[in-house]
Amino acid sequence: MTTRKNTQAVLLAAGQGKRMKSSKPKVLHDVLGKTVLGRVLDAVDELGIDHVHVVVGHEADQVRAFLKENPPKTPLTVHLQEPQHGTGHALQQVVPSLEGFTGTLLVSVADTPLLQGATLAALVDGHIEQKSVVTLLTTDVEDAKSYGRILRDKDGAVVAIIEDKDASEEQKKILEINPAIYCFQWPVSKPGLFSLTNNNRQKEYYLTDMVAWAHQAKHKTAGIKSTDWREVAGINSRLELAEATRLLRDMCIHKLALESGVTIVDPASTWISPEVSIGQDSMVLPGCHLTGKIDVGPNCTIGPNTVMKGPVTVGANSSIVQSNVGNSNVGSDCKIGPFSHLRDGNEIGNNARIGNFVEIKKCVIGNKTNVSHLSYIGDATVGSNANLGAGTITANYNHATKKKSRTTIGDGASTGSNSVLVAPITLGDLATVAAGTVATRDVPSGALAVGRARQENKEGWSGRNSPPPENPRPES
Ligand code: UD1
Ligand code: CA
Repeated sequence: MTTRKNTQAVLLAAGQGKRMKSSKPKVLHDVLGKTVLGRVLDAVDELGIDHVHVVVGHEADQVRAFLKENPPKTPLTVHLQEPQHGTGHALQQVVPSLEGFTGTLLVSVADTPLLQGATLAALVDGHIEQKSVVTLLTTDVEDAKSYGRILRDKDGAVVAIIEDKDASEEQKKILEINPAIYCFQWPVSKPGLFSLTNNNRQKEYYLTDMVAWAHQAKHKTAGIKSTDWREVAGINSRLELAEATRLLRDMCIHKLALESGVTIVDPASTWISPEVSIGQDSMVLPGCHLTGKIDVGPNCTIGPNTVMKGPVTVGANSSIVQSNVGNSNVGSDCKIGPFSHLRDGNEIGNNARIGNFVEIKKCVIGNKTNVSHLSYIGDATVGSNANLGAGTITANYNHATKKKSRTTIGDGASTGSNSVLVAPITLGDLATVAAGTVATRDVPSGALAVGRARQENKEGWSGRNSPPPENPRPES
């Protein structure tokens, strides 16, 4: 990883995000399996910088709890902005902890879920190279929405940012906008931050006014254009959240199709997050939703209608049809589905077959083992070449003691249809459990367990020998 010394980042995440109409802070909304803030922190982590500061305020406890559970790699300090008087005021809250810091302060809004590490890197490196005091990212858009507009003088120098709410009709026509991602030379910029006023429509201290301050103080300002506006798009409403999610999906599908050689049959109905990698000549059929750290090997078929939530790995040549897979490793040449549920903590070997209406949880399943129909296998270790018949159930949970117990099944063992294995229990290698058995004791290797009422036939029970009468049908 590259490292950038004397650089610290500040993410502004204190705002309410009113337009989201949510009890959850805007930055904690989900974009393809990860929060908006989590995605921005991933981009920051790529920089290899000394420190990241996150400013929280609205629903601060929720954001703090998220950061505690999902700490970035970069050393983190959380700051409280209470009440929230604007983006400039938010940055002021960090200043006491910058005592003695000399270098580059990268400041970004935290509502930009598509932000890429490379874009931040180009900004930081460009800022240092050009020796500017204030450098901002800018981008050209077709629809300027409510973004701040970039004002340049006749020589093209950036002189100010005007907020949409404060802009004249003429200024509103400007299509170069402010994504709100900046670098400040520190502590040179400090006086500017404390000279901000709230003399505007929103009565807020705008960080954007730092540009005009620098220009007027004859400090060097620079704008670095990002060629892809999608990367720096901020989300302010649920509609923009949906749009950002779709854009991120498009980017991921583009990459998989063009760089990895994956066939994605119907991009519009396929949702794949950036953390997913898929091997060459694999196919993703319509209706799949793949999020989180997922690694699928080559020549696999995923879908239609498969949901996978990482961490998941799938070996080469496997198929996962109409199924749900979370936190599991699946080997190569496996056939999973239709309608399988690999719930959590599974290690499935190679050449295994998990069939329809089978739920598997916290299991190790050996090579060439089949669990083909209508089963619940939980907390079990199953050897290789085993065959668990239709309707085999591991009774792993004792409701009275609230305890779960494990089932161990040896190599080549088989269970008949409707077997119940009451855990804790061990079936030795090549053990057999007869159909309909409720097994409560271990079955030694090679033995047959039969645990069911013996069948009795009562001759002449129906009192007739002739064929039964036809069932009455209602008159139509
Ligand atoms: C801001 C910029 C605007 C830019 C846009 C890009 C200002 C004044 N305007 O506007 O020029 O085009 O972002 O998306 O900066 N926040 C705080 N404390 C506050 C207010 C906001 O931490 O007091 C945080 C929010 O949590 C959010 C970010 O700052 O992550 C941006 O706030 P938001 O209200 O979305 O600003 P915009 O109006 O979009
Ligand atoms: Ca915004």
